[in-house]
Amino acid sequence: MQYGYFDDDAREYVITRPDTPYPWINYLGSEDFYGLFSNTSGGYCFYRDARLLRLIRYRYNNVPTDSGGRYFYIRDGGDIWTPSWMPMKSALDRYECRHGMGYSRISSARNGLAFSQTSFVPLKDNCEIHKIVLTNESGADKDVDVFSFIEFCLWNANDDMTNFQRNFSIGEVEVEAGGARIYHKTEYRERRNHYALWAVNVPVAGFDTDRQTFLGLYNGFDHPEAVFAGKANNSVASGWAPIGSHHIKARLKPGESKALVFVLSYCENPDDKKWERVVPGGNHGVINKAPANALLDKYGSPEAADRALAALKDYWDALLGRFSVQAEDKRMARMAGVWNQYQCMVTFNMSRSASYFESGIGRGMGFRDSNQDLLGFVHLVPERARARILDIAATQFPDGSAYHQYQPLTKRGNNEVGSGFNDDPLWLICGVAAYIKETGDFGILDEKVPFDNKEELADSLFVHLKRSFDYTLTHTGPHGLPLIGRADWNDCLNLNCFSKTPGESFQTTANFESGVAESVLIAAIFVFNGPDYIEICRRTGRVEEAAYAAKAVAAMTETIKTHGWDGNWFLRAYDAYGHKIGSHECEDGQIYIESNGFAVMAEIGLDDGRALKALDSVKDRLDTKYGIVLQQPAYKEYHLELGEVSSYPPGYKENAGIFCHNNPWVTIAETKLGRGTRAFETYTKICPAYREDDSDLRRLEPYVYAQMVAGKDAPRFGEAKNSWLTGTAAWTFVSISQYILGVRPVFDGLLIDPCIPASMKGFSVIRHFQNAVYRIAVDNSASVEKGVKSVTLDGKQLDGVVLPALGDRKTHEVKVVMG
Ligand code: BGC
Ligand code: NOJ
Repeated sequence: MQYGYFDDDAREYVITRPDTPYPWINYLGSEDFYGLFSNTSGGYCFYRDARLLRLIRYRYNNVPTDSGGRYFYIRDGGDIWTPSWMPMKSALDRYECRHGMGYSRISSARNGLAFSQTSFVPLKDNCEIHKIVLTNESGADKDVDVFSFIEFCLWNANDDMTNFQRNFSIGEVEVEAGGARIYHKTEYRERRNHYALWAVNVPVAGFDTDRQTFLGLYNGFDHPEAVFAGKANNSVASGWAPIGSHHIKARLKPGESKALVFVLSYCENPDDKKWERVVPGGNHGVINKAPANALLDKYGSPEAADRALAALKDYWDALLGRFSVQAEDKRMARMAGVWNQYQCMVTFNMSRSASYFESGIGRGMGFRDSNQDLLGFVHLVPERARARILDIAATQFPDGSAYHQYQPLTKRGNNEVGSGFNDDPLWLICGVAAYIKETGDFGILDEKVPFDNKEELADSLFVHLKRSFDYTLTHTGPHGLPLIGRADWNDCLNLNCFSKTPGESFQTTANFESGVAESVLIAAIFVFNGPDYIEICRRTGRVEEAAYAAKAVAAMTETIKTHGWDGNWFLRAYDAYGHKIGSHECEDGQIYIESNGFAVMAEIGLDDGRALKALDSVKDRLDTKYGIVLQQPAYKEYHLELGEVSSYPPGYKENAGIFCHNNPWVTIAETKLGRGTRAFETYTKICPAYREDDSDLRRLEPYVYAQMVAGKDAPRFGEAKNSWLTGTAAWTFVSISQYILGVRPVFDGLLIDPCIPASMKGFSVIRHFQNAVYRIAVDNSASVEKGVKSVTLDGKQLDGVVLPALGDRKTHEVKVVMG
């Protein structure tokens, strides 16, 4: 069943009923301030760090689900309802939620009163704007009361949910403009220089800032006492749970509309300008409202809000204009051209911190995750990708290993998680190579970047890449394959962990440092990145290093062929006893997807039939109608020597789930074999737009990828979990844009190398690349899967298939004939 549809012209997903099979969310915000916004106005927002600077409270895993957000209660005569459906689950005569690029709009109506709420974070300002419009669609005058409601988080979202002996005594607010402006200033007196603002642009009839007074101690959000009484209490919070609620009265004639603008903002003052007035000897200084006032002056009218939204739309038009697709297959075109890129922007911004599956209080920025996120983002805002690369590289250790995670606010490596994930260093080469191919900016290699954040250890970014490369070579095991350490890309293959203690982290515990457990995947990642590293060396005059690297890559390729091949597919690893993982000799886990996808992506075995055999084995043994599962057979019991991978019930997560992130590796691998139909099939199986009709089973948003879809061994085969923050976004974008449609940045320009189903008659792509625009029309009337007969650039036949970087700020017409 469907719960909505794509409005392609507006670049919106339109949800047509509020009771979606799971909250279907959107992200507001583009740089420092972000909000999570569900189709019933649930969610929360934060400034830069979802854990430390959280503005409003959110309760995880709550009943009912998704409680808490920015709520508006309507009292229309005696009729009380919530226009976003939640929290009262009001019967609505109309409902629609449009999730667009950085904004959402909920529109609903009941008993002749129409409501719309447009929510977004404007460019460059640290606030959410909620523009509300009420329209009297009835034939009689209406007296309407609107109550707003948000619940402040006491900034540190982790403490906020745990440290109640302190929290219940620290909450403080200030109220101004008769209640129209509510300031949350907990801890401002001592160690904070920031406060939150919840304001409306019209005079109010009253306000509340104390939760218990507004709701009633034993009530839920669905029965606020103040709303039912029809009157705010003008409560001023002192400790307990500070909230913000405005009570606004509106009289509407038939046909009349009224617009209100609410602003929810983070405001910061310099330390010496914290106070407007200090009350002598008292606790109650008056905070400096200058930043709040400036913002409210700016967004004081509905017209100003509309202008800010228009600017946000222009921003997204420009961004998505950088890569767009026209094709007969609308689902592919809208995903590749719009939603996949949108998700890439979100993963780049959030890493794995804040979603409806990631609490925002746990993980920082992942070293490998952020490097991979770059792949799907770098063509949108290359300058931000550049800055990110330098941040990530600064957390690398001098020996080339890396902190697995770092904190976004401090940019310091996270000591609790530490290092030892031996694939991490290689992803830096991958991210930097992608950045240079996109921009031509070899200069980044000369940037001086600290190691372990220590300036005195700084060296050029190139040296960082070299240390990454060498780390792999100096950490090999008995077969000459790279040691896995705590885990490789698969966080759950913990071969030195041997954990029997509940609660022990699989990733940071090593009860048995074998020093021999090896990863074929890391070897393949090494070979995959090898040619780029070699090319970078060559093009920067490092001839000897290039020769050394070429030798090392050739040797690793041979090692994989000798010790990483099982006869019909690539092995996955060797465990701490030197036993094979991912072999026909194993009882469970005989074949894994990752090493097979990556080895063929790295072009290992293209020359001798191994690649073909490996991908055929993947198809025979791992493929399902919803995508390719991670391994087979699923582990039926816990294996001490394997770790977390065998801890999941069969079919979930890394134990034979469809772990979408690695599916595009097979897609790309298939294009290396020239099998366009199969490549496209692996692409569409995990692509959410193709499962829109199947939302009751899939459950999650049809416009974004999920990390996992339950595999065939699971009772809930086909059900998705963990949408939004997954490396799937970047890799699927790479697979569709660079390998299927085949428009791929290379060191010399833009390579044209499509690999599509023979039945696809053609498509076109508009691609901005290094300050020029290429309008590329591909003609496949020859019905082939791969192969380019001719390319013409502005009417002239091109020698070869690489478009040069013209950099002339002009638009160029490119005609490609396949055959
Ligand atoms: C999950 C992985 C995740 C890891 C790191 C594991 O429990 O299964 O997908 O990457 O934790 O937090
Ligand atoms: C999610 C993690 O963020 C990512 O780094 C890892 O590769 C996958 N899980 C697979 O375990």
